[in-house]
Amino acid sequence: MRSVCEMLGCRYPVIQGAMGVICNPEFVAAVSEAGGFGTLATAFAADVDTLYKQVKETQKLTRQPFGANLLVMNPLTQQFAELLAEEGIKTVTVSGGSPKALIPLLKSFGMNVIPVVPSVTVAVKSEALGVDAIIAEGSESGGLQGFKGSSTMVLVPSVADAVKIPVIAAGGIADSRGYQAALALGASGVQVGTRFIASQECIAHANYKEAIIVHSETDTGLLNMGGFQVRAMQTPLAKKLLEDPSLIKQGFSEMGTEESWVKGDLEAGVLPAGEVIGLIHNVKSVREIVEEMIQGGQNG
Ligand SMILES: Cc1cc2nc3c(=O)[nH]c(=O)nc-3n(C[C@H](O)[C@H](O)[C@H](O)COP(=O)(O)O)c2cc1C
Repeated sequence: MRSVCEMLGCRYPVIQGAMGVICNPEFVAAVSEAGGFGTLATAFAADVDTLYKQVKETQKLTRQPFGANLLVMNPLTQQFAELLAEEGIKTVTVSGGSPKALIPLLKSFGMNVIPVVPSVTVAVKSEALGVDAIIAEGSESGGLQGFKGSSTMVLVPSVADAVKIPVIAAGGIADSRGYQAALALGASGVQVGTRFIASQECIAHANYKEAIIVHSETDTGLLNMGGFQVRAMQTPLAKKLLEDPSLIKQGFSEMGTEESWVKGDLEAGVLPAGEVIGLIHNVKSVREIVEEMIQGGQNG
């Protein structure tokens, strides 16, 4: 079986999780330069041209491999996949639904296909479809998730017992203790989201980074957005929406993204983040985060 590093072409099995508009090229390239595996997000890319520019910009900044995340529910996903293949991207993570419909196309491009899964059932089905590895994402993770989930501690060993392909643990990993724990649970690598937001290279606004630093492990909540949930920090806006879910419109409108995540207007949208905010107490460079995760240290 290929190791995660052999598959992705990186030095350390530390994948930077896709995170919408805050996956700026400088950030993604910095992760790959530090020996991890950077991932561009396509979730909020308005069109193929926007993604094309991001890929080109990232390629200018690093010669190391990086990947991209495809959201199954996005109507542009097939076009994005074609562009990524043309630009030589060899690995995609697939989330937000079954990768089934996309697999023939992605495999015809010779890509590594790595779905993000919430359960053993979906992991086993995905393996049978011919995916190359599984990201097992626990419910403590930041961002979108379904309504049925279990924690990383339970999900990762359950999935590792059930499939033969490499398992990558996601959700709640911020430092070398989390990394080592993931390996002990049977994972061959990790995917990290929230810890990387509080990095110097991530374009997230200082207000977002500050909120991650000051909040503790009990300060996130699951917001029901209709067909899915979002784990976000309990900012005043998120608290209002948690107390009165009828204020939530269907879809992404409360996410705010650019306005809240990049421009720092905390009334414009919620700030997705995982329970792991309780372990994050500072902003560091991507290189420090990756190296401390591999070499030891609490990283907080
Ligand atoms: C702000 C934010 C946006 C995210 N957007 C995406 C996305 O577009 N696609 C995806 O597959 N996962 C997304 N995620 C999940 C991350 O890629 C990653 O799996 C997760 O953050 C891992 O858990 P952690 O936050 O505890 O490290 C997002 C997470 C955050 C915090």
